[in-house]
Amino acid sequence: MAEETCSALATTAVTNGVAMWQVVLLGIFAFPTIFWIVMYLLPQLYCVIRPVPDLKKRYNAEWALVTGGGSGIGKAISFKLAKQGLNVVVVSLDDDILKDTMKQLRETFPKQQFKSVGCNFSPGVDYLKQIQDATNDLEIPIIFNNAGFMVTGFFDQAPLGKLLANMECNATASVNITHHFVSKLVSGKKKGCVVFTSSVAGFIPTPFSGMYGATKAFVSQLACSLHIELQSLGIDVCAVHPSPVSSNFYNNLDHKIEILESACKQAVPPEALPDDIFRSIGVCALRDLGGMAVGSRMGTFWLPYNFFTEVFATAAPYLPDWKTHNKTRR
Ligand SMILES: NC(=O)c1ccc[n+]([C@@H]2O[C@H](COP(=O)([O-])OP(=O)(O)OC[C@H]3O[C@@H](n4cnc5c(N)ncnc54)[C@H](OP(=O)(O)O)[C@@H]3O)[C@@H](O)[C@H]2O)c1
Ligand SMILES: *[C@@H]1O[C@H](CO)[C@@H](O)[C@H](O)[C@H]1NC(C)=O
Ligand SMILES: *[C@@H]1O[C@H](CO)[C@@H](O)[C@H](O)[C@H]1NC(C)=O
Ligand SMILES: *[C@@H]1O[C@H](CO)[C@@H](O)[C@H](O)[C@H]1NC(C)=O
Repeated sequence: MAEETCSALATTAVTNGVAMWQVVLLGIFAFPTIFWIVMYLLPQLYCVIRPVPDLKKRYNAEWALVTGGGSGIGKAISFKLAKQGLNVVVVSLDDDILKDTMKQLRETFPKQQFKSVGCNFSPGVDYLKQIQDATNDLEIPIIFNNAGFMVTGFFDQAPLGKLLANMECNATASVNITHHFVSKLVSGKKKGCVVFTSSVAGFIPTPFSGMYGATKAFVSQLACSLHIELQSLGIDVCAVHPSPVSSNFYNNLDHKIEILESACKQAVPPEALPDDIFRSIGVCALRDLGGMAVGSRMGTFWLPYNFFTEVFATAAPYLPDWKTHNKTRR
């Protein structure tokens, strides 16, 4: 069909006086664009229409683990896992938010087991040991690396320790945790999945939150390589890139970022995400969730990254955020 249309078009073009070689040349130049759009959209669309997989059945699992499961997206994932009949280990900061979430989980699913590991993913804290101690007697084939926070403002103005703590929480912790659990899965010949909550910030420049973008690029890149290494063993790995979600995430910022504030206006509640995240498992290495993520990804295809960065650099000093931060820059 498509071929017939093409040749009909070509015939019309040729009879209208356009040379055949011009049509061929146009085809050659159009091909990469068409190929990119189709190959990008096919798996993304498949993930939208695919039924939500039952992870308990898929991996014959009893337990799942979610970091940052105390609130927001992680909490919504924990509830979704529990709904599928799984027992859940919730790893999050040791605070009332975590206690409250555990209480809600136990009340909603009284027949299932829930464990909490309250720890801070900070340099010098032995959080992996805490997690190992709590989970040594359990088989956990389902891992969600979701904990994250953001340090905002100019890179040079933030204390280095804070930036490194951000790296520990958003990047290093998921390396330690993933290495521990994946090694166990591989040596035990078990199937399972590892999902990273990444961000649109991982594939566009993010001035005023540079470390955040860098850690998200790190986990997405890691997810792609692990996806390849582990696929044949039946271990599914993916990174998801949500569009803005209304969670505590934005309330916990030191400085408000105006571009983020406007992004917040179109934010969806965290409960809207788990179904979409689950549908990515076993299909995608990289999944973009929602209009903002898909739009940004397609934008980065047409704009060469260096050009994009230069345009951003030219416009940035005129942004209200820049003016605000510039006042206190020392
Ligand atoms: N919100 C968005 O628009 C958006 C967009 C793209 C990506 N993301 C990503 O989605 C993930 C979840 O964020 P969210 O929006 O659900 O935010 P959230 O509600 O603030 O949840 C973050 C979770 O991580 C925990 N956490 C924070 N710092 C930690 C640390 N140092 N050690 C251990 N746990 C820590 C928090 O614990 P407490 O509950 O005790 O605070 C909380 O449970 C993050 O990785 C974020 O980068 C969010
Ligand atoms: C991460 O793993 C390494 C290697 O086992 C270990 O030395 C380090 O203490 C771990 N980090 C944390 C925070 O547990
Ligand atoms: C860590 O991730 C959170 C959200 O996941 C982000 O807000 C924060 O800026 C990141 N921190 C660093 C230092 O990358
Ligand atoms: C930032 O502040 C410095 C010093 O106050 C000033 O010289 C500079 O023009 C400001 N830059 C912008 C883009 O506002």
